[in-house]
Amino acid sequence: MARIYFLSDDSAEIDKVLAGLELKYNVEVFKQLNELIAEIAKQIPDVLILDHQFKQINIIQLVEKLKEKEIFKNIPIIILTTPESRNEIVNCIKLGVKDFLIKPYLTSILLQKIKSLITPETLTTGVARTAQSGTLNVVAEEKRKKLILAELENLPAFPLIVQKVIQIASDRHSSASDFENVVNKDQTLTAKMLKMANSPFYNLQREIVLIRDAVVTLGYNTVKSIAFAAGTGEIFQKNLPQYGLAPGGLWKHSLGCAIAARTIAKEFNYDDDMSEELFVCGLLHDIGKLVLGKFISRDDQVYLAPETGINNICQLEKKLTGFDHSELGEKIAENWKLPDVIKQAAKYHHIPDEASGHSRDVTIVTFANYICNYLKIGYSKKNNFEAKLMDSVRRNLDLNDELIKKIIEKVSENLQEIDKIAGY
Ligand SMILES: [Fe+2]
Ligand SMILES: [Fe+2]
Repeated sequence: MARIYFLSDDSAEIDKVLAGLELKYNVEVFKQLNELIAEIAKQIPDVLILDHQFKQINIIQLVEKLKEKEIFKNIPIIILTTPESRNEIVNCIKLGVKDFLIKPYLTSILLQKIKSLITPETLTTGVARTAQSGTLNVVAEEKRKKLILAELENLPAFPLIVQKVIQIASDRHSSASDFENVVNKDQTLTAKMLKMANSPFYNLQREIVLIRDAVVTLGYNTVKSIAFAAGTGEIFQKNLPQYGLAPGGLWKHSLGCAIAARTIAKEFNYDDDMSEELFVCGLLHDIGKLVLGKFISRDDQVYLAPETGINNICQLEKKLTGFDHSELGEKIAENWKLPDVIKQAAKYHHIPDEASGHSRDVTIVTFANYICNYLKIGYSKKNNFEAKLMDSVRRNLDLNDELIKKIIEKVSENLQEIDKIAGY
């Protein structure tokens, strides 16, 4: 059984931790710092939990004191903290603390955090563990990576019906009724597509009730994009507050980016084919978040502080999981056998300069993402992050302040009815 040491002088907190962990772990409580240090010298715990409100010593001094000794360096530490202690926590993370939990917390979350820091291979407490301490975290990280890759495989397959729609749309010899025959096999998809085609975004003069009319009025390429959005919408219906998103926000943000990317492409005189391709690139750019969301908690946003050296969401994901949503997005697009431009947009939308192809298209998605972040499309009102426009976007797209303003206005006009388009 894994050994957990807990340092606290608060009886209520001690009772809570003991009640939650005692049956699963060998928990030892210390109310005095010197007793804890003496015990660790004899036997190293698998995880050390520190109570931020421990009165004998300030938490930063405590972590510094522990981390300065070689023997303590590799013990994973979790701090039970309070919402007001953000700055101190950031400093503790800098000092090497693995994780933290804000009070009041659920014991089940504490259990999850402990579990993620312990693997069967690391359950070698004592001297043997000290000798192999350098490899402990590597083993835990490998286990987490395996879990994430398994989660990736669990994601639904790319909808077969949408695949068929794409095939038909790309076949020059197919007719509007061939298209309709395929789509009509799936009534839910048909209903969703008609609802989208009739949304204010497409600005049609009369209501469309048949898929074949949608093809005739809007054209194959546009109906293909609509099929993409209608067919994948359900996959995006996951709540991800850990990314600062409102309920259903990833779907709204993704659809917003799709519309924004299409709008920008049109502004740059892209043809219909490429404009619609960019719609799909925008739609799928953040799909990797669906996989990583499970491994990140809402509290983790505290890591996003200059003091920690973590400046953006990708760096945060990488620190916590070993992956970021861009590389997982590329893997999903690969599993779904989607075109290269979609893979590139998923992988490089945060670093468009590094794209190995389609760099202008990828930059358009980066710009679309910036506009949606700036307009807070899909984000919770509580989220007050600041959207930053990268210099590389200005450079690659030859943007000046006036053009940026014009495009933002155009996109926000097109996104005015986003709630209706997203089906809210
Ligand atoms: Fe992203
Ligand atoms: Fe995004």
